[in-house]
Amino acid sequence: MSTIDYSEKIPNNVGLSEDKALQRALEHWQPNYLSWWQEMGPDGAQSFDVYLRTAVSVEAGGWAHFDYVKMPDYRWGIFLNKPEPGRQVNFGSHKGEPAWQEVPGEHRANLRRIIVTQGDTEPASVEQQRHLGLTCPSQYDLRNLFQVNVEEGRHLWAMVYLLHKYFGRDGREEAEALLERRSGDADNPRILGAFNERTPDWLSFFMFTYFTDRDGKYQLCALAESGFDPLARTTRFMLTEEAHHMFVGESGVARVLQRTAQVMNDLKTDEPDKLRAAGVIDLPMIQRYLNFHFSVTIDLFGADESSNAATFYNSGLKGRYEETKRDDDHRLHGRTYTVLGVADGRLVEREVPMLNALNEVLRDDYIRDSIAGIGRWNRVLEKAGVPFRLQAPHKAFNRRIGSLAGIRVSPDGRVVSEAEWAQHERQWLPSAEDRAFVASLMGRVAEPGRFAQWIAPPANGINKQPVDFQYVRFN
Ligand SMILES: [Fe+2]
Ligand SMILES: [Fe+2]
Repeated sequence: MSTIDYSEKIPNNVGLSEDKALQRALEHWQPNYLSWWQEMGPDGAQSFDVYLRTAVSVEAGGWAHFDYVKMPDYRWGIFLNKPEPGRQVNFGSHKGEPAWQEVPGEHRANLRRIIVTQGDTEPASVEQQRHLGLTCPSQYDLRNLFQVNVEEGRHLWAMVYLLHKYFGRDGREEAEALLERRSGDADNPRILGAFNERTPDWLSFFMFTYFTDRDGKYQLCALAESGFDPLARTTRFMLTEEAHHMFVGESGVARVLQRTAQVMNDLKTDEPDKLRAAGVIDLPMIQRYLNFHFSVTIDLFGADESSNAATFYNSGLKGRYEETKRDDDHRLHGRTYTVLGVADGRLVEREVPMLNALNEVLRDDYIRDSIAGIGRWNRVLEKAGVPFRLQAPHKAFNRRIGSLAGIRVSPDGRVVSEAEWAQHERQWLPSAEDRAFVASLMGRVAEPGRFAQWIAPPANGINKQPVDFQYVRFN
């Protein structure tokens, strides 16, 4: 079952041909998916031959096959990790029961909502990124963008499979609706805020894949603990794909920093104007982009106190990050967790029941992981002898969701007046001028081995190919 059957119309390792009704339903959805891809997938790139990896097996180490593929011909399919014999529900009030192979009736609506919300982010990011290919800084980067895009498309397949197989008619309707919403659309937007923001330039793209795909990782890790076994198995396999997306973001930003530091050393200056004139992005501007993407992304974890989060956990649907590695009772009754609020113009800590604070628990795990990568970025600057250091803003900065929503907090965590916010906003968040400057750098560089002025080449190519390999053949 772990080998993927590519002879079928829909590649899969779930024995799809044995369930004719399901196979027919998915084969009916497939052309609608392809129309969506043609309309909303990478702009002007459908005829390119792209050096892409495709899953061939879900076994560790052996799953990737690289070859030139036209994106509409990518073998999107359904891949689940192998079942774990004797797996149980590992948390909540059903702890110790055998893991569910079918949807428990009492949790059906919540489970469907979780799957739809996760599924909606996948096509959303493809839509957000669809114009970026027109301004790629290199062929290498263009290929990485397309790899991320096709895999987000596959993540949509992963969720749609669950909707079709386990939720009957309303599942099929949700699967259609996933192809109808559009990122940023006034009438029919994507479900979550950050997925309706634009990703207008490559600095935003790298920040998005570092921060927002990492949100994806944490959400998937929480769902990989689910007592609903098919959801756990499908999200486990999605996580292996997600790792590459975060690599694209982390190494992308690192290469921007490396290039800027090099020009700072060459010109012996840290003055933003001089650096911009030299065609690179100054470090304070990179910090402002970081502040924006960090704050928008941590909102995705939801309100700091949430009865839904408690319900999802209690009912065994969504666990914590690394649930089974934690040393506690996995029920959490009577335990508390610290969340932030505001009293008398200051941020104050409050203890609340942990079950209600599970969004905050996951957010804090995410923040720790994000900050570790910012440390790795700073080592690029340190190695170049540049004293500037990037920092994560305070988690209360620029929030729109939860008890911190709308409160003016500086990146270093002080509650500030509206006047002070207005005075400093341009130092804290990207201004229209910042975005216009970054946009002005975005020309298309597409000859093998050439890179835009504002970004350093990577240390290594993809799949041990040279950096100047022809990653995309334009047709
Ligand atoms: Fe994804
Ligand atoms: Fe992703």
